[in-house]
Amino acid sequence: MAEQGVRISADMLENHSSAKEATLKGVQDVENNPSFHSVGYGGLPNKEGHVVMDAGYMDGDTLHFGAVAAMEGFYSAAEVAQSLAEGDANNFRAGTGAEKYAEEKGFAKRDNLTEEAKKIYEEKRMEELKPYDGHDTVCFVGLDEKGTICTTTSTSGLFMKEPGRVGDTPMPGVGFYADSEVGGAAATGMGEEIAKGALSYAVVDRMKRGMSAQEAAESAVKELDASLKKRNGYAQPMSVIALDKDGSWGAGTNIEFTFCVANEEMETTVYEMVEQDGEWVTKKKEN
Ligand code: GLY
Repeated sequence: MAEQGVRISADMLENHSSAKEATLKGVQDVENNPSFHSVGYGGLPNKEGHVVMDAGYMDGDTLHFGAVAAMEGFYSAAEVAQSLAEGDANNFRAGTGAEKYAEEKGFAKRDNLTEEAKKIYEEKRMEELKPYDGHDTVCFVGLDEKGTICTTTSTSGLFMKEPGRVGDTPMPGVGFYADSEVGGAAATGMGEEIAKGALSYAVVDRMKRGMSAQEAAESAVKELDASLKKRNGYAQPMSVIALDKDGSWGAGTNIEFTFCVANEEMETTVYEMVEQDGEWVTKKKEN
């Protein structure tokens, strides 16, 4: 889903863009693609047939964040979230408050419900659906030449979600977290489950205490997954990507998971995490 967006982001970073601009353009590439049914234009609607967006952004230099939740009718939820990181208050807006803000600021509008998404909604609305099936959020963690780390996330959330339901994607510390002195992390999967462990903050906190990005991502998911299984008998899907201040990266998951990486030494590369003998291993994905 994010391969082309990561390529765009990486080119921008190579040409001296900030991590903020580069992660936004990467996320927008996914938001604008109608064939992805969990983000932006072409996203699947909620129970009432509305495509409703959540998005978040965090600047690792200042720790300022911006977020929108349950927002409908705009071209890019991610760009609205980024602009909300500018003040010291009112940084997270939801529903009509988010829409009013976006309208006042002149952000481009768009009806994100495509004919194809509408058809899927009409066909599936009577079925018993699992709450989560496959990838749902686009998450970028970027590090630029000035050493700024930031995260930008965007999703239309779960297909057939209840009106007003908000997942992890716009919640700082849950769906994303960035600290340029340490690293950044962002999550995808079942928002309610990710929230139970404040997963993105848990990963950055582990990096702060000396773990590598890979150790932090892997151990945070493993611990939350085990804790939920112990308490509830099951754990729903969750995955997280991580990047430290030196550019080392990692990922953790409890479900087969694909993600992309690009850096100075490596062209955009797609990786997958698969389970082998009870452990999750990361491999380059073959085409
Ligand atoms: N991870 C996106 C959501 O749960 O809405």
